[in-house]
Amino acid sequence: MTDIFKDILSAEESLFANEMALDFDYLPKEVPHREGQQHYLADCIKLLLAGRMGKNILITGEPGIGKTATIHWVLREMEEKGLDEQAKPIYINCWKKDTTHKIVMEMCNQLGYKWVQNRNTDELFREVANILNKKSAVIVLDEVDKLEDEQIIYELLDDLYRKCIFLITNYRKWLTELDARVRSRLVPESVEFKKYNLSETSDILRRRAKAAFVPGVWEDDALDIITEKTHELGDMRYGLFLLRETGNIAEKKASRKIKKEHAEAAIKKLGDFKLRKDADLDDDERHMMQVIKDNPGKTSTELHEIFKKKSNKAYRTFHRKLKALEDAGIVSIETDFTATGGHVSRVKLKKP
Ligand SMILES: Nc1ncnc2c1ncn2[C@@H]1O[C@H](COP(=O)(O)OP(=O)(O)O)[C@@H](O)[C@H]1O
Ligand SMILES: [Mg+2]
Repeated sequence: MTDIFKDILSAEESLFANEMALDFDYLPKEVPHREGQQHYLADCIKLLLAGRMGKNILITGEPGIGKTATIHWVLREMEEKGLDEQAKPIYINCWKKDTTHKIVMEMCNQLGYKWVQNRNTDELFREVANILNKKSAVIVLDEVDKLEDEQIIYELLDDLYRKCIFLITNYRKWLTELDARVRSRLVPESVEFKKYNLSETSDILRRRAKAAFVPGVWEDDALDIITEKTHELGDMRYGLFLLRETGNIAEKKASRKIKKEHAEAAIKKLGDFKLRKDADLDDDERHMMQVIKDNPGKTSTELHEIFKKKSNKAYRTFHRKLKALEDAGIVSIETDFTATGGHVSRVKLKKP
């Protein structure tokens, strides 16, 4: 008699070997298909190690295509080779630290400088500059477009002697919108990250799956449709979500293999995942959504006027957040032409 239970997973078995390897902020051993960019950035850092002036680089590209992972990988390599003794790496995510004060405090923290009580931002920045100017520094401002003010860039450019400043953004236009005062000092070289092609997407996902799951549990056609969906959406985070979710579905069904039907069910859940991203909105974005909801069909300038009463953000910041809400599929922005030949953007909420 055939064992009808042979494909059933017992309660203590799991398809996952190391689920953490699917976390968005897990840094894999290798970041493949970004070798060109890794070498480029390493060459900039090597200038510092050779006692020369560094370079300032603007790194751009769509979300979810390995910009952050690549820079983390390069900085980790530096540390593993002990090169951080000569050039101090500092990584800051400007979405989390969005003011000059918060960034300076974070720099103190990363430098182990503890005398921060009752000191103002300027004084603390002097201390940071003193420490960093003893050697050289590699400073990364990730998601730099989220900065509330660009003062910090200005200060880093002026007051650090030997440095590489790497600025990362999803918005290629960010630099052209920048304050002229900063822009005139900052003429960075730029590195553009292109989207992964289908075979690169496939290779990356297979490697992440290999790190996260028990060997041999994935059926090829299940991985194939996840690869296709991820390539279509262009953001590797969807791929990682689908790998995990497909594994969960297979496990719930107590299957020993992860099959195409499980992947299909996971792809159906992608809608929920995109929705769940709404829960990650910051206070301003939530407030913006409320304002948009209460004022349907208003132009972006009119909405900003209303928004400003509660949160005094510049129009530029407001507009950038609006774009982000549009990218997330939460609002739609339509351009209307006015009688005088100008144009206005009308904003509507897509989802209730
Ligand atoms: N080449 C790669 N190899 C392995 N994982 C990758 C690769 N590129 C991106 N990822 C993963 O995809 C997710 C999104 O990448 P990330 O670097 O955060 O994108 P970006 O900063 O461009 O928005 C991260 O979890 C990252 O680990
Ligand atoms: Mg990033």
